[in-house]
Amino acid sequence: MLHQISSACALLALALSASATQATGPGPEACGNLTQALGSKTVVSNVLSMNYIDSVKSYFNTEQSKFKPSCIVYPTSADDVSLAIKAIRHSESRFAIKAGGHNPNDFYSSVDKGVLIDLCDMTEKSYDEDSTLATYQPGGDFGDVYEYFAKWNRTVVGARLAGVGTGLALSGGLSYLSSQYGLACDSFRELEVVLPSGEIVTASENVNPDLFYGLRGGGGNAYGVVTKYTVQSYPADTFYAGIVVYLFQHNSSVLDAISDFITYNEDPKAAIIGTYMKLPTPGFDLNLDEAIIMFLVYDGPDAGNAFKNFTDIPHLVNTLGQKTYTEVVNMPIPNSAELNAGRNTFRVTVHGGDETGIANLNTLYEKWVDWGNDNKGKYLLTSFDIQPIPKSLTDASNSNYGGNAMQMPDGPWYWVNYLLTASPLLSEKDLDEVNQSYKELVEAVPPTEGLPLFINDASHDQNPLTTYGGYAKLKEIKARYDPDGYFANYTGGWAFP
Ligand SMILES: Cc1cc2nc3c(=O)[nH]c(=O)nc-3n(C[C@H](O)[C@H](O)[C@H](O)COP(=O)(O)OP(=O)(O)OC[C@H]3O[C@@H](n4cnc5c(N)ncnc54)[C@H](O)[C@@H]3O)c2cc1C
Ligand SMILES: *[C@@H]1O[C@H](CO)[C@@H](O)[C@H](O)[C@H]1NC(C)=O
Ligand SMILES: *[C@@H]1O[C@H](CO)[C@@H](O)[C@H](O)[C@H]1NC(C)=O
Ligand SMILES: *[C@@H]1O[C@H](CO)[C@@H](O)[C@H](O)[C@H]1NC(C)=O
Ligand SMILES: *[C@@H]1O[C@H](CO)[C@@H](O)[C@H](O)[C@H]1NC(C)=O
Ligand SMILES: *[C@@H]1O[C@H](CO)[C@@H](O)[C@H](O)[C@H]1NC(C)=O
Ligand SMILES: *[C@@H]1O[C@H](CO)[C@@H](O)[C@H](O)[C@H]1NC(C)=O
Repeated sequence: MLHQISSACALLALALSASATQATGPGPEACGNLTQALGSKTVVSNVLSMNYIDSVKSYFNTEQSKFKPSCIVYPTSADDVSLAIKAIRHSESRFAIKAGGHNPNDFYSSVDKGVLIDLCDMTEKSYDEDSTLATYQPGGDFGDVYEYFAKWNRTVVGARLAGVGTGLALSGGLSYLSSQYGLACDSFRELEVVLPSGEIVTASENVNPDLFYGLRGGGGNAYGVVTKYTVQSYPADTFYAGIVVYLFQHNSSVLDAISDFITYNEDPKAAIIGTYMKLPTPGFDLNLDEAIIMFLVYDGPDAGNAFKNFTDIPHLVNTLGQKTYTEVVNMPIPNSAELNAGRNTFRVTVHGGDETGIANLNTLYEKWVDWGNDNKGKYLLTSFDIQPIPKSLTDASNSNYGGNAMQMPDGPWYWVNYLLTASPLLSEKDLDEVNQSYKELVEAVPPTEGLPLFINDASHDQNPLTTYGGYAKLKEIKARYDPDGYFANYTGGWAFP
């Protein structure tokens, strides 16, 4: 026992001395500079401090928690962010910008031996009753943002789950309200941005409109750091919403109902996401190793027949009922593994709402089921999430400034988001193999040409930006605002091939 304690101490001492000997190089140099300028409360280098631990532990993909930033900066203003960017450049340090930490791709909001800019302390918000415009800063999650505007019975277009961060909006942002108002980025009216040069600017329809375009769905951390969002708000009154859970024996009936919803639903107040989940061993509150969960959300107190096709199918659980928007984004799910941090990766595909697209959906689904059965033991969770994109959504999107960076083609079409939570027991080599076989699964049916691969659901290697209607323009904007390629070379994020 005593021996164990002393060897643990020896290990700790070794780790501390190892980190002390590594305390040179661009990261530590930038951190030293920033500590002088901003103080040790704003710039934290101690790997044992609570803030440091919170920042590196709170990633949806836990692989990123293994990276050790040289320090973490907690800015409270655009000036702080500007100073941080300038010092980082001066030392030629790597860095990352983190909002909610939900992007699963390595180095998108995480960094090893560089500066992590964690925006969590920037949480100011405001509401203007005359203009109905809302402002929020990038810190906190969408649950916090919604709760604030609920005081006025208003909300903003953001995440479908309270825990997701505001980086979602810079990459589009698909909400339960999107069929009415477009993606989160379609509501942007003005942004405050710290450019890769460190300069603080405004981006709107009239000021730096090209930058505004890039930030409306063209991805975070490519064109600058957004320090304040001014957006159109919308009414949030009573919703009729809930989850309905089915046994897998109803897989075909539910898939047919989803397909019909994709193709035929014309009520923009009705939104769904369909999730097929597989676990390696019986889990859920229901002792199942597979289940189908439909999230059904209607903006209004009575959904009429909008969800009848789903409720008509025999089910295990149905929580439909009147809810506030805050309750909608906090709907409890029988297996919360869907939301848990883990060795998570996302992949996405896209297909049309026509006959061919629906046939593809059936093929994709069957291949996914087979993959899950063939790979038991290698994952804690795999899910197949179907997200319809109706014409009302693409119309709403395209009615704002001629559309966002995606230049969304007319609906209906749909995205499938594949989530893989790899087993923690896999070696790095086995993890690579599972990643590879999951990639092949998703690629087995090529996505429909001309439709965009959603960057919020994509894996790094999918090069999703190149599928965007606005890609050529985005590439120019990237070159204009990151002219020497500092952001391109020194932080993670989407490539502009
Ligand atoms: C459980 C879960 C639920 C989800 N639900 C939805 C959903 O309903 N709709 C949807 O569209 N997507 C959804 N997503 C996907 C989600 O939008 C992306 O994971 C998104 O990247 C999360 O943003 P974040 O702020 O939490 O993450 P982060 O990883 O912190 O940020 C994402 C990227 O944006 C950059 N970034 C963040 N803030 C800024 C800023 N202010 N300035 C410049 N760059 C910035 C970061 O550097 C990073 O590259 C979900 C993801 C998860 C894990
Ligand atoms: C700190 O960074 C700034 C740029 O923001 C630079 O001008 C200054 O020389 C740096 N100081 C040191 C000591 O490196
Ligand atoms: C918000 O809605 C509730 C319930 O309909 C109502 O009682 C309340 O007065 C409203 N608040 C505002 C600020 O309009
Ligand atoms: C899925 O549906 C098909 C067709 O109804 C059925 O044959 C199959 O058994 C179902 N799968 C499961 C796992 O129940
Ligand atoms: C429900 O399904 C029927 C076909 O069975 C279809 O005609 C109808 O449009 C569907 N309704 C919705 C809202 O998807
Ligand atoms: C495999 O997935 C993990 C997350 O589970 C990710 O962090 C890692 O980088 C991936 N590896 C490769 C080679 O893509
Ligand atoms: C980034 O990389 C490109 C290509 O290698 C190079 O031309 C450019 O100078 C680099 N920029 C910086 C700031 O390092």
